[in-house]
Amino acid sequence: NEISEGKVTYKSPSNIALVKYWGKKENQIPANPSISFTLNACATTTSISYKKLASKTSNFSFDLLFEGKLKEDFKPKIEIFLNRIEKYLPFLKDFHFTIETSNSFPHSSGIASSASGMSALALCLMAIEQELNPEMKDDFFNKKASFLARLGSGSASRSIEGDLIQWGNHTDTDGSSDLYGIKYPYEVHPIFKNYHDTILLVDKGQKQVSSTVGHDLMHNHPFAKNRFDQAHENLTKLITVFSKGNLKSFIEIVESEALTLHAMMMTSLPYFVLMKPNTLEIINKIWAFRESSNTNVCFTLDAGANVHVLYPDSEKDEVFQFIKNELVAYCENGQYLCDRIGFGAKKM
Ligand code: PMV
Repeated sequence: NEISEGKVTYKSPSNIALVKYWGKKENQIPANPSISFTLNACATTTSISYKKLASKTSNFSFDLLFEGKLKEDFKPKIEIFLNRIEKYLPFLKDFHFTIETSNSFPHSSGIASSASGMSALALCLMAIEQELNPEMKDDFFNKKASFLARLGSGSASRSIEGDLIQWGNHTDTDGSSDLYGIKYPYEVHPIFKNYHDTILLVDKGQKQVSSTVGHDLMHNHPFAKNRFDQAHENLTKLITVFSKGNLKSFIEIVESEALTLHAMMMTSLPYFVLMKPNTLEIINKIWAFRESSNTNVCFTLDAGANVHVLYPDSEKDEVFQFIKNELVAYCENGQYLCDRIGFGAKKM
């Protein structure tokens, strides 16, 4: 198709890993498979207005607006991404792009926007690709969007669809791939539908360790091989946990994964402690509450101090009361975000 101009918009969610991706090979190939809940409320909305140029340019031609303002300092990251994906989207130098992007969550909340941001961008570019090739099937569209998002940020490959996404080769028969995320291929018990994630903002400061640096720390890490094997074992265990709805084992795997991610950072060279005192206070409170109540509340962590509090929908009243009464006091300025499992990106 010949097109000269247009505009596309996508809203793409963040996700929270249950089995963590930490460590990668060349070309954004994960060192181990991972699985995540797609989120709903934490999202990035990106629009791309595109206009055909008189002739192909030698450099990418684009402007970038973040929350309505020109953002020169984000451009190099986008430039690197466009360079990586140019061979898969040959039209990139035929157009001028105006990229406008904004997040639903507060700026510098310590919430990483790379998964939602890179997936939204990849989806917009795929939508332009689809305008040029209207025959494209939805399944291919999603796969390629995830493939391209991965090249921006690994975890972004898990944000195209929902509600449970696996990325990284696990077995030869489950359809998983290192190149893109897939919808979880096995049965999932209804207890995992509508799962909640309340994100406690413990430390809103700049990330101490970028994920690029973090993944690199897994090269020559003394425990790397064991860790990568463990991720595979946990994914295998999750198959029965998800189908049976075994929350005790779910909690054990999810919390162990979070602590292992941090253990990897504490035992790398250089080493980092990314938890804050309040992170540990919250973890201890969650454990005590779980003991004393009949709930299945548990936590997970990203590569930072914030705590994601996970719980089933059937326990939401009791757990949310506990969060408000006992955990919010440990958040910076009392800030937290209420999210839940979501079903993937949407064209706007
Ligand atoms: O997508 P990246 O390169 O920013 O890595 C994300 C890594 C973790 O968030 C810590 C874990 C994960 O699987 O999302």
